[in-house]
Amino acid sequence: MITITGATGQLGVATIDFLIQKGLDPSKITALARSEEKALALRQKGVNIKLGNYNEYSSLVEAFKGTDKLLFISSNEMENRDQQQVSVVKAAQEAGVKHILYTSIQRQSDKTDSPIAFVTLSHIATEKAIKESGMAYTILRNNLYMDGLPWVLGEKVFESGVFYPAQDGRIAYTLRSDMAEATANILLGDNHENKEYNISNPYSLSFIEIAEHLSVIADKHVNYFSPTVELYKSILTGSGVPEFVADFLAGFAQGIAAGEFVAADTDLPRLLGREAVGYKEFLNSLYATK
Ligand SMILES: NC(=O)c1ccc[n+]([C@@H]2O[C@H](COP(=O)([O-])OP(=O)(O)OC[C@H]3O[C@@H](n4cnc5c(N)ncnc54)[C@H](OP(=O)(O)O)[C@@H]3O)[C@@H](O)[C@H]2O)c1
Repeated sequence: MITITGATGQLGVATIDFLIQKGLDPSKITALARSEEKALALRQKGVNIKLGNYNEYSSLVEAFKGTDKLLFISSNEMENRDQQQVSVVKAAQEAGVKHILYTSIQRQSDKTDSPIAFVTLSHIATEKAIKESGMAYTILRNNLYMDGLPWVLGEKVFESGVFYPAQDGRIAYTLRSDMAEATANILLGDNHENKEYNISNPYSLSFIEIAEHLSVIADKHVNYFSPTVELYKSILTGSGVPEFVADFLAGFAQGIAAGEFVAADTDLPRLLGREAVGYKEFLNSLYATK
């Protein structure tokens, strides 16, 4: 049995769809969901549903019983993620899970003073708990979703240009569906025990290149301006963006500027058995008709 947490989220649903598309009987998949309502679409696909919550330990142990491989998709709750995630690992161990796969984050450093420490430290703590648990593991070091790029660029990017304090830093943005397909391949394959994979696009691009390609699409110059972090945050909050969102976006920009999301080597094309979707293809698919 393959059990998947975060199964009602975007990565979870996409991974389950790939598993089924690649021939796995849906009755061999169990999805952890927080409510029947959110699980309905998965139930209709023939997937088993177990209700549970990262904050309710006993629900996790119950849900994980009989699991051979557990795909543990990291929580999207930032506040108590360390405790939640270590609890998921313990529950998996108690339930007798044989192999745990965890969606961690691509990074160049584990430093506590890294600009992305606000997100990496809980992943690092979870990886440590997994490695100490004695279960076979696969750590998936997922880069940032390319799917989040339009959010960073903003709706008026062709009028106002690209405004983001990433300087000339590079990032190997990766399409979520490529990550999902690679994850499904790992779940269906063999010999992935006790491995760590970089799930990153092979090409690390800068925001300079993003603006250049947007210029090609629009057939006019699209400027890239990298402001100071202070200016960036004040402009965002001044236009009504909540402070924590501005901090979040600025934190990732600083991580990009520091090179944290450059992927010197990547396992993604090999795991996919094909090239990963690149940024030009992605930007064309989003904007080429505008
Ligand atoms: N690489 C990146 O750029 C990037 C960006 C954003 C997030 N992430 C990380 O990658 C993960 C997967 O991405 P995604 O796009 O699939 O995120 P998502 O769509 O937000 O899905 C998150 C999933 O986690 C579940 N969840 C949250 N809190 C939970 C709890 N207390 N107990 C049980 N389940 C809980 C959610 O359940 P509900 O459906 O009930 O809400 C949902 O199924 C995220 O959770 C986050 O850790 C990565």
